[in-house]
Parts: sequence; structure tokens; C-alpha cells
Amino acid sequence: MGETGIAVVGFGNAGRQHVAAIGALDGLRLAAVVETDPAAARRAVEAGLPVRPLPQVLADPAVAALAVCLPPGHRPPVLADAVAAGKHLVVEKLPARSPAELRGILDSAADASLFSTVMFQHRFALPGELRAKAPERFADAVANLIISRPRNAAHYREGWRAEPEAAVGGVSVHLGAHYLDLACQLLGEPVEMTPLSRTDAAAGIDTELLGHVTFRSGARLTVTVTCRAAARFEQLTVLGHQDWAEVRAGATTGELDGRPVTAPARPAAELRQDVYRELAGALRGGPAPDLSLLSRSTGVVALLDGLLNTPVGTTRAASPC
Ligand SMILES: NC(=O)c1ccc[n+]([C@@H]2O[C@H](COP(=O)([O-])OP(=O)(O)OC[C@H]3O[C@@H](n4cnc5c(N)ncnc54)[C@H](O)[C@@H]3O)[C@@H](O)[C@H]2O)c1
Repeated sequence: MGETGIAVVGFGNAGRQHVAAIGALDGLRLAAVVETDPAAARRAVEAGLPVRPLPQVLADPAVAALAVCLPPGHRPPVLADAVAAGKHLVVEKLPARSPAELRGILDSAADASLFSTVMFQHRFALPGELRAKAPERFADAVANLIISRPRNAAHYREGWRAEPEAAVGGVSVHLGAHYLDLACQLLGEPVEMTPLSRTDAAAGIDTELLGHVTFRSGARLTVTVTCRAAARFEQLTVLGHQDWAEVRAGATTGELDGRPVTAPARPAAELRQDVYRELAGALRGGPAPDLSLLSRSTGVVALLDGLLNTPVGTTRAASPC
């Protein structure tokens, strides 16, 4: 059976990681890199990669899917063209700037019978038994999320990262999104968001965000995402009535149905391959993607929309997705 061609659009940090994941898997082939910045395009050529213009890639029947590794605000025209050309999607996080934008991508891909997936690779680190009865297992749970990744505020004052239209936000969107997504996988649909405190590097670009989220399951989550502390720390703790779980630096511990559950941390590069493995299997006629589905991102997009676009100290209901 031939290899499935994937084109990676954007050859920055994310794009390079996608190229590595595609290259590591049997049955997938990097069909093209699309890059508008001449210096980044040159780096791809020097790495021996096939750099091609987007229209040529869209017209190529050997390209089955586009991995869209652009800043959020640069993606909409590329995603629309990809769907119009019948290409399946792998979208980087945060996959949309608003619930309405996400709904548009999901609907257009579904109407065209295309798979839409997302690079929320940390979902694959959660043990299956933990995901199995979520969110019912954690109804009315008390949960806490802390993400600390030290960065100089200047990082969020340059290029697209300083532009809310392109970046959506700062540390919450670009460093917090993975664990916020994990919280939604376990706790379900967020219904109310209350930002409690916020520091910005530039207008609309947060370097620290503290907030509170209520889920339809009754679970309550306290959120701290910061780049202002020195320690690197990532931890989600969920305390249910009987069960509990903690994901810390990618490793899971907990107790479910009276039994201990543990899962070691796995390298992010391996988790990214899991995302592509689901898509590759589906494109070969196997089961449709599951964990990597873009439709599983409605929670995190609504949650961040609420925390970022609500005045501090006030509570807002989630916008429908
Ligand atoms: N899932 C992950 O672990 C992970 C890791 C890194 C980044 N990301 C996400 O990926 C997104 C991009 O971040 P990054 O750090 O790679 O950014 P980056 O600036 O390093 O790379 C973006 C690249 O896209 C190119 N580009 C912009 N518009 C383009 C267009 N229309 N066509 C072709 N190329 C275009 C730019 O020239 C640049 O080279 C962000 O949303 C970020 O949060 C996710």
C-alpha cells in the first residue's frame, strides 16, 4: 500500500515537530512544506525537505492531509482552502480563536466528509481507564491546575505573539492550553468562567492568568497559568468523591474504583506520532480518529474564550460551540 502524503504548512517550532513525527511513521510521507517566510523556507530546503507553494500542494491528489502549524490568526484562509480542496486536517493548538470559529471548521470539514484532528498530543498520555468514565466519574470534583513555564515577558512582545488577533492570548493559550484541554477531557463541558487575576505583556497577551471554571458535571477547577515564576511545573489534580487523579509533568497517578492507576510520562515526540498514527490508520480505512478529534476541543476553546474575554472578577457563561 502506498504512503499517505501529508503537507506541513508553517515551518516554525510546531512545523518542525510535525515533520519529525511524520518522518518517524511508516505509511506516512512528507509531501511538502509550505512556508511564506524566505528564511524559514530556506531552512526547510537546507534540511532536504520539499518546499512547495500552497496552490500546488492543494492541487496535488497525492496530498491527503494538511498539517496547519501556523499561529491561530493566520490559519482561517488556509483551513478554508484545504477543506475546499478535499484535504483532511491536522490543526495545531489552540485550534480556533473562538467557539464560533471552531464550529465553522468542524462543520465545513464534516460537510466535506473530511477528518479534522488536532495536535493536543498530551491526550494520549492519559491512561485509558482514566478517560473511560469521564466526565461522570468526576462529577462535582474539586480540581486544580497549575502551569508554570518561565519566560521573559519580552517573548510575548514580538511578532505574532504580541498580536491578539493572531495569537489569541499569551501564556494561557500557548503554554496552558494542553493541560486545560486535559482538564476538559476529564471534567467535561465548561459552563462558567471567572477570571480572578491577570497580568499582560501587551494588550490582550497574558503572562499570568488565574481563574475559576465550573463544568456541567458540577466539577470546579481553579486555574493558574504563569510564565512569571522561576520553576517549570505542570500539574492537574482532580479530586472526585471516590476517585482521584493527578497528571504531573506528563505522568499520571491516582486511584480509580479502589485501585491505583499510574502511567509514566512519555516523550512529546512520541505523543505527536500517536496523533498521526490515528489519522494514518483512518486514511488506510481503519477506525476514524478518536482522541485526536478536533471536535474534542470545544471545551478548551470555550474555556479560554471565557477566561480571556471576561472582565476580571466577573463570571460569564460559556459561548456555544
Ligand atoms: N502542540 C505543540 O506542542 C506545539 C508546539 C509549538 C507550537 N505550537 C503552536 O503552533 C502554533 C505556531 O507556533 P510556532 O511556535 O510554530 O510559531 P513560529 O512563529 O515558530 O512558526 C510559524 C511559521 O508559520 C509561517 N507562516 C505564517 N503564516 C503562514 C502562511 N500563511 N503560510 C505558510 N507559512 C506561514 C511563519 O513564517 C513561521 O515560520 C501556535 O499556535 C503554537 O501555540 C504547538
